[in-house]
Amino acid sequence: MSIMQSLFGGGSRDLLGLDISSSAVKLLELSRRGDRFHVETYAVEPLPPNAVADKQIVDPKVVGECIARAVNRSGTRTLQAALAVSGASVITKIIQMPATLSENDLEEQIKVEADQYIPYSIDEVHLDFQVLGPSSVGTGSVDVLLAACRKEQVEQRCAALEIAGLKPRIVDIENNALQNASLFLQHQMPDSGRGKTIALIDMGATTTSVLVLHNLQSVYTREQSFGGRQLTDDIMRYYGLSLEEAAKAKRFNSLPEDYSFNVLTPFVADMGQQIDRSLQFFFASSSQHAQIDQIILAGGCAEIAGVDRAIQEQLSIPTVVAKPFAHMSVSPKAKPAQLAKDSASLLLACGLAYRAFDPA
Ligand SMILES: Nc1ncnc2c1ncn2[C@@H]1O[C@H](COP(=O)(O)OP(=O)(O)OP(=O)(O)O)[C@@H](O)[C@H]1O
Ligand SMILES: [Mg+2]
Repeated sequence: MSIMQSLFGGGSRDLLGLDISSSAVKLLELSRRGDRFHVETYAVEPLPPNAVADKQIVDPKVVGECIARAVNRSGTRTLQAALAVSGASVITKIIQMPATLSENDLEEQIKVEADQYIPYSIDEVHLDFQVLGPSSVGTGSVDVLLAACRKEQVEQRCAALEIAGLKPRIVDIENNALQNASLFLQHQMPDSGRGKTIALIDMGATTTSVLVLHNLQSVYTREQSFGGRQLTDDIMRYYGLSLEEAAKAKRFNSLPEDYSFNVLTPFVADMGQQIDRSLQFFFASSSQHAQIDQIILAGGCAEIAGVDRAIQEQLSIPTVVAKPFAHMSVSPKAKPAQLAKDSASLLLACGLAYRAFDPA
C-alpha cells in the first residue's frame, strides 16, 4: 500500500471498526445482508486515564493491551481494522487541480505542491487525496480533497494495533468516518436528511466534534475541547472528590440527591452553550445556511437522561439522540442490551466499520 493510499485506504471485507478514543477502545464489526446491516461483534474496553491525550497515544503498550482485551471480549476472529486519526496533526484541504491529469500525474503533482498547504515537512506526514468532482472555482479543474496526517500519529496507532495482533487496513479521518456513520442515522432525520441541514454533535469525554451536514454531505466541521471530563471535574470540585472517586461516582450513579440540580443541570446548560457557539461559528462561515433543521447528539454525553429535551428547549432546535443500530439486527454475541446502552458513543466506530463495504 503506497502512503498515498494509507489515509483513506481501499475496500475490504471482514473489517473491524476500531475507535481508540480518550476514554475507551471501541470495537465494532458489521456485516450486510442485502441493504440491511447486522452487528456481528462489539466491545467497549475502558482505557486508564491519560493513556490517550489530545488524540495522541501516550502509551502504545497500555493501549495495545486494551485493544487485545476488546478483541477477546468481542469474540471476533477478524484481524484487519479501520482506525481514525484526528486533532491538530490532521490537515484537510480542498484544492483545485487540472481535470486533465491522470491519477498518477495527479499524485506526483500533489506531492510537489503539498508543502504549500501543509504546515509540516512532507517527510513528516502521510498524504492522501480524493478527487471530489468538477470544481466550481475554475473550468477545466477538479476539486481534490487533500488529507495529511503526521506519521507519528499513524505509527503510534499502528504500533498499538500490532501489539493486539491486529493489522491496520484503513486509516480514516474522524470527521470522514462520522459523515459515513450519519447514513445510519437517516431514519431519525426529517425527510431522511434530503434538503435538510443537520448538526451532528459527538460529545465524548474530552472532545466535541461538530459536523454540519446539508443533504447528507458535510458542509462544516469543528472540534472543541469539551466533553464529559468537564462534568467529572465539576463533580470533583463540588463534592471535593479525587478524579478516580468522581469518575466512579458518575459511572455508578452514586452521587447525592442534589447532584442533578446543582451539578448535572448546569453541565447540560454548558453543553447547550457549547453547541450554540459552534453553530454560530458555522453560520458566520456560511452565507448559504441560515438555519439548522435538527441536532443529532452522539457520544457519551448524549447518554445523559433527558439531554435531548433540554438542548431542544435551550436552543429551540429539534434534537434527538443518535440511534445508529435501530434498524440493524444484532448477533446475540454482540450483547444487544448493552449495545443499545452504548449506541450513542459508538457512532465513530460505526463509521469505521462501514468501511468494510467500500467498493473494492
Ligand atoms: N449516562 C451518562 N451520564 C453522564 N455521562 C456519561 C454517561 N454515559 C457516558 N458518559 C460520559 O461520556 C464520556 C465518554 O463518552 P465517549 O465514549 O463518547 O467518549 P470518548 O469517545 O472516549 O472521548 P473522546 O471522543 O473525547 O476521545 C465520559 O466522560 C462518560 O463519563
Ligand atoms: Mg469519541
